[in-house]
Amino acid sequence: MLVVQLSDPHIDALRPDKAAAFGRAVEHVRTLPMRPDAVLITGDCTDHGRQDEYDVLQSLLAPLDMPVYVVPGNHDDRAAMLERFGHLGTQRLDGFLHYVVDDLPVRLIGLDTQVPGQGGGELCDRRLAWLDARLDEARARPTLLFMHHPPLVSGLDVMDAIGLEGSARLCDLVLQHPHVARVVAGHVHMAVTTTFGNSTLMTCPGTDATFQPDLSHPAQLILQYQPPLALLHTWSEPTGLLSFTHFLDDAPWITLHDGQRWAPTEPTAHPAH
Ligand SMILES: [Fe+2]
Repeated sequence: MLVVQLSDPHIDALRPDKAAAFGRAVEHVRTLPMRPDAVLITGDCTDHGRQDEYDVLQSLLAPLDMPVYVVPGNHDDRAAMLERFGHLGTQRLDGFLHYVVDDLPVRLIGLDTQVPGQGGGELCDRRLAWLDARLDEARARPTLLFMHHPPLVSGLDVMDAIGLEGSARLCDLVLQHPHVARVVAGHVHMAVTTTFGNSTLMTCPGTDATFQPDLSHPAQLILQYQPPLALLHTWSEPTGLLSFTHFLDDAPWITLHDGQRWAPTEPTAHPAH
Protein backbone atom coordinates (compact mmCIF):
# COMPACT_ATOMS: atom_id res chain seq x y z
CA MET A 1 0.00 0.00 0.00
CA LEU A 2 1.16 3.53 -0.76
CA VAL A 3 -0.85 6.52 0.41
CA VAL A 4 0.64 9.91 -0.50
CA GLN A 5 -0.15 12.80 1.81
CA LEU A 6 -0.03 16.34 0.42
CA SER A 7 -1.08 19.34 2.45
CA ASP A 8 -1.95 23.01 2.42
CA PRO A 9 -1.82 23.82 -1.30
CA HIS A 10 -3.60 27.16 -0.54
CA ILE A 11 -4.84 27.52 -4.13
CA ASP A 12 -5.23 31.28 -4.47
CA ALA A 13 -6.94 33.07 -7.34
CA LEU A 14 -4.47 35.95 -6.93
CA ARG A 15 -1.34 33.80 -6.56
CA PRO A 16 -0.80 31.57 -9.63
CA ASP A 17 2.48 30.34 -8.13
CA LYS A 18 0.49 28.33 -5.54
CA ALA A 19 -1.46 26.48 -8.25
CA ALA A 20 1.77 25.94 -10.20
CA ALA A 21 3.43 24.40 -7.12
CA PHE A 22 0.44 22.12 -6.53
CA GLY A 23 0.48 21.13 -10.21
CA ARG A 24 4.14 20.13 -9.84
CA ALA A 25 3.30 18.09 -6.73
CA VAL A 26 0.51 16.27 -8.59
CA GLU A 27 2.82 15.56 -11.52
CA HIS A 28 5.40 14.19 -9.09
CA VAL A 29 2.79 11.88 -7.52
CA ARG A 30 1.69 10.75 -10.97
CA THR A 31 5.23 9.69 -11.93
CA LEU A 32 6.25 7.94 -8.70
CA PRO A 33 7.70 4.49 -9.54
CA MET A 34 5.13 2.85 -7.26
CA ARG A 35 1.57 3.81 -8.12
CA PRO A 36 -0.16 5.27 -5.05
CA ASP A 37 -3.40 3.62 -3.91
CA ALA A 38 -4.72 6.95 -2.66
CA VAL A 39 -3.78 10.59 -2.13
CA LEU A 40 -4.69 12.55 1.00
CA ILE A 41 -4.85 16.34 1.12
CA THR A 42 -4.88 17.47 4.72
CA GLY A 43 -6.62 20.79 4.42
CA ASP A 44 -6.16 24.39 3.32
CA CYS A 45 -6.93 23.18 -0.19
CA THR A 46 -7.68 26.81 -1.08
CA ASP A 47 -6.65 30.09 0.46
CA HIS A 48 -10.07 31.79 0.54
CA GLY A 49 -12.58 28.97 0.06
CA ARG A 50 -13.75 30.47 -3.26
CA GLN A 51 -15.55 28.40 -5.86
CA ASP A 52 -13.06 29.43 -8.57
CA GLU A 53 -10.22 28.23 -6.33
CA TYR A 54 -11.90 24.82 -5.90
CA ASP A 55 -12.36 24.72 -9.69
CA VAL A 56 -8.58 25.13 -10.07
CA LEU A 57 -7.92 22.53 -7.37
CA GLN A 58 -10.14 19.97 -9.07
CA SER A 59 -8.68 20.63 -12.51
CA LEU A 60 -5.16 20.15 -11.11
CA LEU A 61 -6.23 16.86 -9.47
CA ALA A 62 -7.84 15.56 -12.67
CA PRO A 63 -4.70 13.76 -13.99
CA LEU A 64 -4.66 11.50 -10.90
CA ASP A 65 -6.41 8.19 -11.52
CA MET A 66 -6.43 7.06 -7.89
CA PRO A 67 -8.87 8.22 -5.20
CA VAL A 68 -8.09 11.60 -3.62
CA TYR A 69 -9.37 12.16 -0.08
CA VAL A 70 -9.61 15.66 1.37
CA VAL A 71 -10.46 17.27 4.69
CA PRO A 72 -11.05 21.01 5.21
CA GLY A 73 -8.57 23.43 6.77
CA ASN A 74 -9.21 26.77 8.38
CA HIS A 75 -8.80 28.54 4.99
CA ASP A 76 -11.41 26.32 3.35
CA ASP A 77 -15.19 26.60 3.01
CA ARG A 78 -16.84 23.48 4.40
CA ALA A 79 -20.07 23.93 2.44
CA ALA A 80 -18.18 24.28 -0.84
CA MET A 81 -16.10 21.22 -0.02
CA LEU A 82 -19.14 19.14 0.99
CA GLU A 83 -20.72 20.01 -2.35
CA ARG A 84 -17.70 18.75 -4.25
CA PHE A 85 -16.27 16.08 -1.96
CA GLY A 86 -19.20 15.07 0.26
CA HIS A 87 -19.42 11.71 -1.52
CA LEU A 88 -15.98 10.56 -0.30
CA GLY A 89 -15.56 7.45 1.81
CA THR A 90 -18.22 5.68 3.84
CA GLN A 91 -19.97 6.12 7.20
CA ARG A 92 -20.01 9.90 6.72
CA LEU A 93 -21.00 12.15 9.60
CA ASP A 94 -23.76 14.46 8.43
CA GLY A 95 -22.65 18.08 8.15
CA PHE A 96 -18.91 17.38 8.29
CA LEU A 97 -16.21 15.93 6.04
CA HIS A 98 -15.75 13.06 8.50
CA TYR A 99 -15.53 9.62 6.79
CA VAL A 100 -13.88 6.22 6.62
CA VAL A 101 -11.83 4.69 3.78
CA ASP A 102 -12.13 0.98 4.31
CA ASP A 103 -10.69 -0.68 1.21
CA LEU A 104 -6.95 -0.53 1.96
CA PRO A 105 -4.78 -2.63 4.33
CA VAL A 106 -4.66 0.39 6.64
CA ARG A 107 -8.05 1.84 7.52
CA LEU A 108 -8.09 5.61 6.88
CA ILE A 109 -10.33 7.94 8.86
CA GLY A 110 -10.72 11.56 7.74
CA LEU A 111 -11.51 14.06 10.49
CA ASP A 112 -12.99 17.51 9.91
CA THR A 113 -11.45 19.87 12.47
CA GLN A 114 -12.73 23.07 10.92
CA VAL A 115 -14.57 25.81 12.80
CA PRO A 116 -16.08 28.22 10.24
CA GLY A 117 -14.54 31.68 10.45
CA GLN A 118 -11.79 30.67 12.87
CA GLY A 119 -8.09 29.88 12.45
CA GLY A 120 -8.12 27.31 15.23
CA GLY A 121 -9.78 23.91 14.91
CA GLU A 122 -11.99 21.76 17.09
CA LEU A 123 -13.09 18.19 17.61
CA CYS A 124 -16.44 18.67 19.34
CA ASP A 125 -18.50 16.04 21.25
CA ARG A 126 -20.33 14.90 18.13
CA ARG A 127 -17.19 14.50 16.02
CA LEU A 128 -15.34 12.67 18.82
CA ALA A 129 -18.29 10.35 19.56
CA TRP A 130 -18.42 9.41 15.87
CA LEU A 131 -14.69 8.68 15.93
CA ASP A 132 -15.00 6.57 19.09
CA ALA A 133 -17.66 4.43 17.39
CA ARG A 134 -15.59 4.06 14.20
CA LEU A 135 -12.54 2.99 16.18
CA ASP A 136 -14.55 0.51 18.30
CA GLU A 137 -16.02 -1.26 15.28
CA ALA A 138 -12.65 -2.33 13.78
CA ARG A 139 -10.19 -2.82 16.60
CA ALA A 140 -8.13 -5.37 14.65
CA ARG A 141 -7.39 -2.99 11.74
CA PRO A 142 -4.32 -0.73 11.75
CA THR A 143 -5.78 2.76 11.38
CA LEU A 144 -4.49 6.13 10.23
CA LEU A 145 -6.32 9.31 11.24
CA PHE A 146 -5.90 12.32 8.94
CA MET A 147 -6.98 15.88 9.66
CA HIS A 148 -5.91 19.50 9.19
CA HIS A 149 -5.14 20.84 12.68
CA PRO A 150 -2.54 18.68 14.47
CA PRO A 151 -3.14 17.88 18.14
CA LEU A 152 0.18 19.29 19.31
CA VAL A 153 1.81 22.34 20.83
CA SER A 154 4.36 23.48 18.25
CA GLY A 155 6.20 25.90 20.53
CA LEU A 156 5.43 28.75 18.14
CA ASP A 157 2.96 31.09 19.82
CA VAL A 158 1.37 32.32 16.60
CA MET A 159 0.58 28.77 15.47
CA ASP A 160 -0.42 27.53 18.92
CA ALA A 161 -2.99 30.35 19.13
CA ILE A 162 -4.79 28.58 16.24
CA GLY A 163 -4.31 25.01 17.48
CA LEU A 164 -6.83 22.20 18.02
CA GLU A 165 -9.50 22.29 20.75
CA GLY A 166 -10.22 18.76 21.94
CA SER A 167 -6.64 17.48 21.58
CA ALA A 168 -6.59 15.96 25.08
CA ARG A 169 -9.85 14.09 24.48
CA LEU A 170 -8.57 12.85 21.13
CA CYS A 171 -5.44 11.65 22.91
CA ASP A 172 -7.61 9.70 25.40
CA LEU A 173 -9.43 8.04 22.49
CA VAL A 174 -6.14 7.10 20.84
CA LEU A 175 -4.89 5.63 24.13
CA GLN A 176 -8.05 3.49 24.32
CA HIS A 177 -7.55 2.30 20.74
CA PRO A 178 -3.99 1.03 20.27
CA HIS A 179 -4.75 0.11 16.65
CA VAL A 180 -4.41 3.81 15.77
CA ALA A 181 -1.00 3.41 14.15
CA ARG A 182 -0.62 6.96 12.88
CA VAL A 183 -2.18 10.40 13.32
CA VAL A 184 -1.32 12.80 10.47
CA ALA A 185 -2.14 16.45 9.86
CA GLY A 186 -1.08 19.64 8.07
CA HIS A 187 -1.64 23.27 9.13
CA VAL A 188 1.78 24.05 10.63
CA HIS A 189 3.61 23.91 7.26
CA MET A 190 6.44 22.03 8.94
CA ALA A 191 7.46 18.37 9.14
CA VAL A 192 6.97 17.49 12.82
CA THR A 193 7.06 14.00 14.35
CA THR A 194 6.11 13.34 17.95
CA THR A 195 4.35 10.81 20.14
CA PHE A 196 0.58 11.07 20.60
CA GLY A 197 -0.85 8.73 23.20
CA ASN A 198 0.73 5.42 22.23
CA SER A 199 0.70 6.42 18.59
CA THR A 200 2.88 8.60 16.35
CA LEU A 201 1.81 12.03 15.13
CA MET A 202 3.31 13.48 11.95
CA THR A 203 2.60 16.72 10.12
CA CYS A 204 3.06 17.25 6.39
CA PRO A 205 4.26 20.67 5.19
CA GLY A 206 2.61 22.57 2.34
CA THR A 207 3.07 21.83 -1.34
CA ASP A 208 4.33 25.33 -2.11
CA ALA A 209 6.98 25.44 0.59
CA THR A 210 8.14 23.97 3.85
CA PHE A 211 8.73 26.39 6.71
CA GLN A 212 11.84 26.09 8.80
CA PRO A 213 10.90 28.10 11.87
CA ASP A 214 13.29 29.89 14.15
CA LEU A 215 12.35 28.16 17.39
CA SER A 216 14.55 30.51 19.40
CA HIS A 217 11.93 33.21 18.85
CA PRO A 218 8.69 31.50 19.91
CA ALA A 219 6.71 34.73 20.12
CA GLN A 220 7.62 35.64 16.54
CA LEU A 221 7.20 33.71 13.32
CA ILE A 222 10.51 33.76 11.47
CA LEU A 223 10.62 31.42 8.53
CA GLN A 224 13.04 30.01 6.06
CA TYR A 225 11.30 28.61 2.98
CA GLN A 226 12.58 25.12 2.09
CA PRO A 227 11.71 22.70 -0.73
CA PRO A 228 8.21 21.21 -0.49
CA LEU A 229 7.63 17.78 1.04
CA ALA A 230 5.04 15.01 1.01
CA LEU A 231 4.59 12.12 3.41
CA LEU A 232 4.45 8.63 1.91
CA HIS A 233 2.56 6.21 4.17
CA THR A 234 3.30 2.64 3.14
CA TRP A 235 2.20 -0.72 4.43
CA SER A 236 3.28 -4.26 3.62
CA GLU A 237 3.07 -7.50 5.56
CA PRO A 238 6.74 -7.60 6.62
CA THR A 239 7.16 -3.87 7.31
CA GLY A 240 3.84 -2.82 8.80
CA LEU A 241 3.11 0.90 8.45
CA LEU A 242 6.16 2.98 7.47
CA SER A 243 5.96 6.71 6.77
CA PHE A 244 8.59 8.40 4.60
CA THR A 245 9.25 12.12 4.40
CA HIS A 246 9.64 12.72 0.69
CA PHE A 247 10.96 15.73 -1.26
CA LEU A 248 8.67 16.90 -4.07
CA ASP A 249 11.51 17.59 -6.46
CA ASP A 250 12.46 16.18 -9.83
CA ALA A 251 15.81 14.60 -8.96
CA PRO A 252 16.49 11.71 -11.36
CA TRP A 253 15.85 8.05 -10.52
CA ILE A 254 19.03 5.93 -10.53
CA THR A 255 19.05 2.11 -10.42
CA LEU A 256 21.83 1.05 -8.04
CA HIS A 257 20.68 -2.59 -7.83
CA ASP A 258 18.47 -4.16 -10.49
CA GLY A 259 17.09 -6.99 -8.36
CA GLN A 260 19.90 -9.32 -9.45
CA ARG A 261 23.10 -7.38 -9.05
CA TRP A 262 24.63 -4.03 -8.24
CA ALA A 263 25.27 -1.60 -11.08
CA PRO A 264 28.90 -2.27 -12.14
CA THR A 265 30.02 1.31 -12.62
CA GLU A 266 28.64 4.79 -12.69
CA PRO A 267 24.84 4.35 -12.70
CA THR A 268 23.04 6.65 -15.07
CA ALA A 269 19.86 8.52 -14.37
CA HIS A 270 16.66 7.59 -16.15
CA PRO A 271 13.08 8.76 -16.08
CA ALA A 272 10.70 6.93 -13.72
CA HIS A 273 8.69 5.49 -16.61
FE1 LIG B 1 -2.17 26.24 5.78
